[in-house]
Amino acid sequence: MTDFFDYKNGIMHAEDLSLERVSEQFGTPTYVYSKAALTTAYQSFANACAGRDVLICYAMKANSNLAVINHFAKLGAGFDIVSGGELARVLAAGGRADQVLFSGVGKTVAEIEQGLRADVLCFNIESAQELERVAQIAARLQITGRVSFRVNPEVDAQTHPYISTGLKENKFGVEFGTALDLYRRAAKLPYIEVTGIDCHIGSQLLDTAPLLEAMDKLLQLVDQLSSEGIVLHHLDLGGGVGIRYTNEKTIDPAAYLSEVFKRLGTRKLKVMFEFGRALVGNAGVLLTEVQYLKHATSSDGKHFCVVDAAMNDLIRPALYQSHHRIEPVRHSTAATRVYDVVGPVCESGDFLGKNRALNAQPGDLLAVMSAGAYGMVMSSNYNS
Ligand code: LLP
Repeated sequence: MTDFFDYKNGIMHAEDLSLERVSEQFGTPTYVYSKAALTTAYQSFANACAGRDVLICYAMKANSNLAVINHFAKLGAGFDIVSGGELARVLAAGGRADQVLFSGVGKTVAEIEQGLRADVLCFNIESAQELERVAQIAARLQITGRVSFRVNPEVDAQTHPYISTGLKENKFGVEFGTALDLYRRAAKLPYIEVTGIDCHIGSQLLDTAPLLEAMDKLLQLVDQLSSEGIVLHHLDLGGGVGIRYTNEKTIDPAAYLSEVFKRLGTRKLKVMFEFGRALVGNAGVLLTEVQYLKHATSSDGKHFCVVDAAMNDLIRPALYQSHHRIEPVRHSTAATRVYDVVGPVCESGDFLGKNRALNAQPGDLLAVMSAGAYGMVMSSNYNS
């Protein structure tokens, strides 16, 4: 199990709350989050930064539930956003605009205006054209925009190709070789204040080496810029820290951060992060009810366990072949069969897990584990 989802008297609980009670009250499918898990994940990073000039931003694309955002705001987190809609959510949930990093490769005119008027902490710029657009709008509104460039450090994050973002072939960030010229240009623009540098090389990373390699490359630029009189105030290392879905060995926050501070040395830079998955991934489960069992009638057939949650609730297995553990809510030691756990959506790709040993009966509840990040936010209305 995870720290905050475990069995008590044979029934899985979220902290002290029985998941059977949740299902009685709210029905299924339902996402259930543990506040204590959110706090613990945040604190594991925050405690490792004690006494340092750091802003831990929550990359809310991972889970933009208003209660989750509100909780992180209360803990003192900033927010990494990628759209005007996310900005609206942060503000509605009690977050502060002056702790918001506005990321994203395709910010529209309306979104940039919205960000400038809200006076967000910084725009993470991803292209030369975006810089010109922000500068134009800032001049028109006569509001100074603070900017950072998301530099593509060209390191291999060694993760799933769909969630790797720091290679030359990825659409994200400005090319490493063009970054200095962009800073020189930005430093000359009225209504633009150059404040930082950022990167994000991918998600679900299990090793700090590529993160630190990216940091080293950014520091090269920081030092070169400073020698030219362009002094940056912050260094944003993005997110990417992975979580345990099964038995992965994950990055230890304290060890990672201590390496970061070691490399930072005496430079007077505020360090920022944009953690998503690591803050919420293991703080949520998707609760679902078994509808039918379809048993194979021949030895080469498959057994299917049809549940009421589907790819339109949790798309990660279908989209990335991601593995989420699937556990019975009521613990049982009875004989098991090996099932593909599938949903009701009319697609063969609609599965939550393949070849899972389960003792399941129609009406039983199952918990799809580690569903707090990129779960509900990626759900859709497919099949209405
Ligand atoms: N900052 C930027 C600019 C990002 O693009 C992302 C994630 C993050 C921070 C947060 O990364 P994290 O700490 O969560 O790794 N849907 C995929 C993950 C997509 C990640 C997109 N960007 C999944 O379900 O695995």
